Amino acid sequence: MNEKKQTFDSQCVVIIFQSVISKFRLVHEMDCMLKRSRTLPEVGLVTLLAAAIVIWSANVALGEDMSALFALSSPGRSTFTTDNQEVLLGLNQEGGSGLSSYSQYLFGYFNMRVKMIPGNSAGTVTTFYFTSFGDAHDELDFEFLGNVTGQPIILQTNIYASGKGDREQRIFLWFDPTLDFHNYTILWNPQQVVFYVDGVPIRVYPNVEAATGVPYLKSQLMYAMGTIWDGDSWATEGGRVKIDWDNAPFIASYRDYFADACTDNDASTTCAMAKWWSQPQLQALDDSLIGQLDWVKKNYMVYDYCNDYARFNGTPPECAYTRPTSILYNTNSSLSSSAPSPTSSPFSVNPSSPGPSPVLSMSSRTLKYAQPIILLSTSLIILHISMQAGF
Ligand SMILES: *[C@@H]1O[C@H](CO)[C@@H](O)[C@H](O)[C@H]1NC(C)=O
Ligand SMILES: *[C@@H]1O[C@H](CO)[C@@H](O)[C@H](O)[C@H]1NC(C)=O
Ligand SMILES: *[C@@H]1O[C@H](CO)[C@@H](O)[C@H](O)[C@H]1NC(C)=O
Repeated sequence: MNEKKQTFDSQCVVIIFQSVISKFRLVHEMDCMLKRSRTLPEVGLVTLLAAAIVIWSANVALGEDMSALFALSSPGRSTFTTDNQEVLLGLNQEGGSGLSSYSQYLFGYFNMRVKMIPGNSAGTVTTFYFTSFGDAHDELDFEFLGNVTGQPIILQTNIYASGKGDREQRIFLWFDPTLDFHNYTILWNPQQVVFYVDGVPIRVYPNVEAATGVPYLKSQLMYAMGTIWDGDSWATEGGRVKIDWDNAPFIASYRDYFADACTDNDASTTCAMAKWWSQPQLQALDDSLIGQLDWVKKNYMVYDYCNDYARFNGTPPECAYTRPTSILYNTNSSLSSSAPSPTSSPFSVNPSSPGPSPVLSMSSRTLKYAQPIILLSTSLIILHISMQAGF
């Protein structure tokens, strides 16, 4: 009898650990345990276990609580999903909407996962960006220019430093951004700003202020923002294709925001220089990342202000200037040999195999909290089985 019971309980244990992989089996496993629990202590154990599993599942299910990080504008058109893990920004004929971070940052590493408006998004502009305010503001932009169904959305990036923008670059993406969430990342340290898409660098803006006088973004705190708006005077095929309001509302989704940054509590270059994202190997792109950036430029670039001679009557100074290799720490062979190998860097991701990124470290943080619970419940199960087996 005891032996039989032990077998049953072992099966339950197996089911519970399977449920670690598939949370949906929660109901089934509870059923499994309860059916086989007869005495009061057993029921107690099962209840405890159930509580542990519920907490664990909740931990695993929860990404970032977006409602704790962002305020929404135009609540009629923007909303958090019921679990607060996603922000849905909507645009209709009455207007657009936006999200704005509660925190402000000076330098940091930031990631947002965005899923673009599905279907016909022609004329819409959807953004994830950082900005300060005022005439001489700084700004770093990801801007998705919508398109009719089946035609490629353009990702435009732009950089304002001390109020001066006009630094647009435009690329097509190597995937359909409407089908799934993708990572849009900004590295911003005192030496460079890098825009990444799924870990692939698509743009670098180095600090060349000392050499060229072109201002760098180095002293203004910025908010993280997201918006969706009507840009049909210019966005799609230069404004030729208008928004089809029959398709409204247009909805883009944002989730898993991650920021490791210096904030208003400690906004300084000193703070930044002590962080992992300012270390020598991230002060310039290494050869492998330069290769990926070249791949993007060669295959996906639609427009680069650096090459728009007619518009600027020449080459903008920050484009004309090349940083001497001596300031690029990672070209110093003695240093680069001690730098982390590409596979251990959060940025060393190539188009075919996305590597680790801080979003992963978030889930490992979650796991860290979950582990004691799992350990506790495992010990309880083992205790329970031992008792049943008469040890
Ligand atoms: C939209 O599709 C057209 C036709 O393929 C293309 O020329 C254009 O670059 C696409 N993107 C935008 C934002 O206009
Ligand atoms: C390269 O590294 C060596 C050894 O760490 C150092 O002495 C040298 O100054 C570095 N050169 C540059 C240009 O940073
Ligand atoms: C975005 O980053 C997360 C965390 O590193 C990763 O799990 C996911 O696969 C990435 N998404 C894409 C499309 O690369």
